[in-house]
Amino acid sequence: MFQTTFQRYLTMIEQFLAQLPWDKDILNQSMSYSLIGGGKRIRPVLALASAEAVGGNPEAILPAAVSLELIHTYSLIHDDLPAMDNDDYRRGRLSNHKVFGEAHAILAGDALLTYAFEFLADSGLGQPERQLRIIHEVAVAAGKVGMVGGQVADLAGEGKTLTLNEIEEIHKAKTGALLTVSARLGGILAGGTEEQIKALTDYAQALGLAFQIKDDILDVVGDSETLGKPAGSDIRQRKATYVSLLGLEGAGSQMHAQILKAQSALKLFDEGAIFLSELASYIEQRQH
Ligand code: IPE
Ligand code: IPE
Ligand code: MG
Ligand code: MG
Ligand code: MG
Repeated sequence: MFQTTFQRYLTMIEQFLAQLPWDKDILNQSMSYSLIGGGKRIRPVLALASAEAVGGNPEAILPAAVSLELIHTYSLIHDDLPAMDNDDYRRGRLSNHKVFGEAHAILAGDALLTYAFEFLADSGLGQPERQLRIIHEVAVAAGKVGMVGGQVADLAGEGKTLTLNEIEEIHKAKTGALLTVSARLGGILAGGTEEQIKALTDYAQALGLAFQIKDDILDVVGDSETLGKPAGSDIRQRKATYVSLLGLEGAGSQMHAQILKAQSALKLFDEGAIFLSELASYIEQRQH
């Protein structure tokens, strides 16, 4: 059941991405190289599932859900640059800058970020008030107090021993913010009640932290081929992570606690959020 639903969302997302007008020029090639044919699509899946959990139609919010994948993909292209994590592989193939060069990788990222806002402003999304609310929230989550701010703090933490609280704040910003706004986007655009939106927020905040802790764990225990990106990158860059501070076991128990917290936030939905609950288990068990 979980797999079937996941596949249904994936098909919607992949079809949407594939039918976009990708021209043959270098910018389009560079953008679509990183965007198409790889990635777990967790953020748009989270948005579509959240829309469904509040009783909405996921098809109706698809352009907005996909915008989250555009922003996420831009963040990965920039994250891999030599000036940041300096990683040569992503999603099972060479990183964007290894294929198109650094200048085009930077620009492809810029274009993906701005392209995302075209979809968020799609005139077919209905209810302008809800839409304005979510455009604002996505901008905040992607920006200086969210993902970008978290990436700056992540770089500043290289080579340092941070406290658990400091690492938690980095993870919440660099990864949690976009995952949280993904769930909120689905809930808000599909007309969820404030109580439902609050529950989705609590769920996704815990899920987002768990997601990055798992990423830290996989960087140590995973192999590059399965991950589709270089294992050991954090150690090479002397990153402050859950594993560097607490060890594998400590990081694992912190992650598990966040997964349970995420799942317990879903109580108010009863049957309506089984997929979201199973998504949390999938994130805990994922191997890439
Ligand atoms: C990797 O994200 C970067 C993090 C925020 C941890 P994902 O693990 O979602 O990467 P893809 O999209 O599946 O490639
Ligand atoms: C990246 O965290 C978070 C982003 C906002 C891109 P990582 O640097 O740990 O992500 P990976 O391991 O390279 O995918
Ligand atoms: Mg990084
Ligand atoms: Mg990285
Ligand atoms: Mg990582």
